[in-house]
Amino acid sequence: MNIVDNSLSQKEFTRRIIDSLPVSLYVVDRELNIILWNSGRAIGEFGKREEDVLGRNISEIIEGNTLAVVKKEFLDVINSGKPISYERESPEPNRKERKIFRVTRTPIFGENNYVIAIISIGEDITERRMLEQKLIDNDKLAGIGQLAAGVAHEINNPMAAISGCAEALIERFKDDAYRTIPDYEDIRRYLKIIEDEIYRCKRITENLLTFARKGGKDIGRQKVNVIIDDILNLLIYQQSFQSIRVMKEYDSKLPDVLANEGDLRQVFLIVTLNAMDAMENGGELRIRTYQMDDEVKIEFKDTGCGIPPEYINRIFDPFFTTKQPGKGTGLGLSIAYGIITQLNGKIDVESKEGIGTKFAISLPAAM
Ligand SMILES: Nc1ncnc2c1ncn2[C@@H]1O[C@H](COP(=O)(O)OP(=O)(O)O)[C@@H](O)[C@H]1O
Ligand SMILES: [Mg+2]
Repeated sequence: MNIVDNSLSQKEFTRRIIDSLPVSLYVVDRELNIILWNSGRAIGEFGKREEDVLGRNISEIIEGNTLAVVKKEFLDVINSGKPISYERESPEPNRKERKIFRVTRTPIFGENNYVIAIISIGEDITERRMLEQKLIDNDKLAGIGQLAAGVAHEINNPMAAISGCAEALIERFKDDAYRTIPDYEDIRRYLKIIEDEIYRCKRITENLLTFARKGGKDIGRQKVNVIIDDILNLLIYQQSFQSIRVMKEYDSKLPDVLANEGDLRQVFLIVTLNAMDAMENGGELRIRTYQMDDEVKIEFKDTGCGIPPEYINRIFDPFFTTKQPGKGTGLGLSIAYGIITQLNGKIDVESKEGIGTKFAISLPAAM
């Protein structure tokens, strides 16, 4: 009240409200002449100033194919008295990034429900859509993990049957009576290969299952070295991990830490996968664990691409990623950060572009 009474007229104040709205907004009368144009409409590449458009008909302002569409929309609102709302991608084909707008056209009524004007509001929702997409992608990832675990579980049973048969045959062929059959040595050799390869498959599915097992949220004493090894065992089968040399420097007397097992796995996996991504052409990942005072220290040091100084403060931000869409979600490190700080720990980063990156995690040692 005071603001209006003392320094601004009611009209001026209303105008400022309209200009301060975080949307682009204009109003047309029934003849589609522009009667209001807020400052949101004046900014941007295609923005026009209010003094240049006021009183003019939209057919002089809006160009090309869009005009017919917009005209029809306004007439629909005038005739039906109902607002319309839809999403539209920015029509300018030569723009670098596409933008998504939510457009709403709302009738203003005079006497007797007679539409006297229409407000058109355009809201840039590109960012919101992007965030939503990333959340969906992340859910998909979690879904894929569950699917993989399900498949691993299903494959375990037939695998057990096959390995049982292979073992039975191997036993039987130890009997001298079979020595005389043709290709005896080949058969034994092939059976041995079948047996070995099945064990390999079993190890893969077991690792996958341990990994995907939902352990609830209970907190317990965890052995960091063991958890890191679990993750490395899982990643060994990944193509992109083959070109990476892993050096382990574990403190065999490392104290336990108090945490949820799944959470810790996730943190170590996030950091390891990031290192893997950073070393697309191979390199070395050095994992070190040691105790310092009452703290357990865990370091992941890679010889990857490194992080440019201008990004280093942003890597823990949710959705910050330098990776291709579909490759990175930008959520990894923010999740890791959340988990570690909740455990009263710390996660720090040091990096040199072109040389490599070191993530240092410290957690309170369990008493
Ligand atoms: N070991 C690393 N080496 C180089 N850059 C890294 C490393 N770890 C993280 N980054 C940078 O931090 C960003 C954010 O990582 P993260 O939150 O895990 O999201 P994402 O991996 O999905 O991009 C990455 O896109 C990358 O630019
Ligand atoms: Mg990541």
